[in-house]
Amino acid sequence: MTQNHRKLFVRSFGCQMNVYDAQRMADALAPEGYVETDRAEDADLVVLNTCHIREKAADRVYSELGRLREMKAERAQDGRETMIAVAGCVAQAEGTEILRRAPGVDLVVGPQSYHRLPDLIARARTGRVVDTEFPVEDKFAHLPAASPEKTRARGPSAFLTVQEGCDKFCTFCVVPYTRGAEVSRKVMHLVGEAERLAASGVRELSLLGQNVNAFHGEGPDGTVWGLARLLRRLAMIPGVERLRYTTSHPRDMDEDLIAAHGDLPELMPYLHLPVQSGSDRILSDMNRQHTADSYLRLIERIRAAQPDLALSSDFIVGFPGETDRDFEDTLDLIRAVGFASTFSFKYSPRPGTPAADMDGQVPEPVKVERLAALQALLEEQRQAFNRSCIGREMDVLFDRAGRHPGQVAGRSPYLQPVQMMADNVAIGDIVRVRILSNGTNSLFGEPAYPTLVDRPVEAVA
Ligand code: SAH
Ligand code: SF4
Ligand code: F3S
Repeated sequence: MTQNHRKLFVRSFGCQMNVYDAQRMADALAPEGYVETDRAEDADLVVLNTCHIREKAADRVYSELGRLREMKAERAQDGRETMIAVAGCVAQAEGTEILRRAPGVDLVVGPQSYHRLPDLIARARTGRVVDTEFPVEDKFAHLPAASPEKTRARGPSAFLTVQEGCDKFCTFCVVPYTRGAEVSRKVMHLVGEAERLAASGVRELSLLGQNVNAFHGEGPDGTVWGLARLLRRLAMIPGVERLRYTTSHPRDMDEDLIAAHGDLPELMPYLHLPVQSGSDRILSDMNRQHTADSYLRLIERIRAAQPDLALSSDFIVGFPGETDRDFEDTLDLIRAVGFASTFSFKYSPRPGTPAADMDGQVPEPVKVERLAALQALLEEQRQAFNRSCIGREMDVLFDRAGRHPGQVAGRSPYLQPVQMMADNVAIGDIVRVRILSNGTNSLFGEPAYPTLVDRPVEAVA
């Protein structure tokens, strides 16, 4: 490589797809000589990978950009140039508005243009650049793969975006506007990427998509494959021991996917299936196209296929028109299901979405109160689920060092963080663990068979 090393700092907000995108941006810039740093002050190029989902998330971008502008001025005094780029969903939604509001920004790049980053950065050296097109070319086909060393450094659990965008248009949500129409990647491209990841020590793949179970990628036989068929194919790759997928929509849980939960051992017994509300009137105004009852019946069918299933969901409180009665319906649904972990939010009106202009906007104090009541119930359920794991044995994939010396940390099949004291367990090992106790966020365990560790073949050699 002829160029000098330049330093890159990427900060991601928002969902897991942004984490995946941040890695792919770093991979795209590696051939240009960019090396990642975890200190913004050292970086020649700072990328803010932004989220537009709620007002707070979007506001944080501007306060962060204010700080970065000062940093850029300080570095300039030392004769060092700094380029500031805004990527992600705020970039897509606000485009040139960002240049107006944030004078330090050199480049605004939407999520569909990351493969053009080297070129965009070159252009931004001579003037501010905005690229928020939805290009016709396939971004993924143009993004270079990570080096085996980089993949290894990122750990044994990896994200893999299989589809992007959304055609559902829930009335509260910006995603169909920021990520565009639903597009699935080709099966063999995904198999290729998964094989490269597995060859570098990845043992768990989390398939990502804004509507991941709407996946309908072109298969090697020219027919359209659904998510279940893709999961079954990826499970055949040597080294791939665990599969997960997120985020799914209740409307796209087809028979084959439900069956996979019962008969595909690599598919972990955990499902994130956002329901948002338990009131049919609110669900209809949200344009969710399912009812509370159809959701409950769906859960029954999935549990029939896989009784040992941890369920997770997203909830919104204070959607326009939500009454106490509607909110009670949501609490009833939660009691009927029993969730292992959840995410819940106060409704945040988003510019350009239909719900932002609906009558009956709910006052902030009511939202605050409802969120607290909802979270108290959900926290009870989470703790109950964690307590039910005490005394059980389960396979844990250890993916990082623990907080204390001699401690390793990983994830249970149900995605709970697990900590354990062990001197013969390495990062990437899957170990049968007996759960002894639970803390606020983690479970604590001991090796169920102290001498038996399932380690990738290459690591043993
Ligand atoms: N694609 C996923 C979720 C995308 S956003 C899905 O369809 O489920 C993640 C979560 O953010 C949503 O499930 C919803 O609960 C929440 N969310 C989205 N828009 C929101 C808004 N305007 N206000 C509050 N929460 C919102
Ligand atoms: Fe947003 Fe609804 Fe699409 Fe999920 S399904 S990304 S909540 S519009
Ligand atoms: Fe946020 Fe965009 Fe993800 S709005 S949640 S970063 S798809």
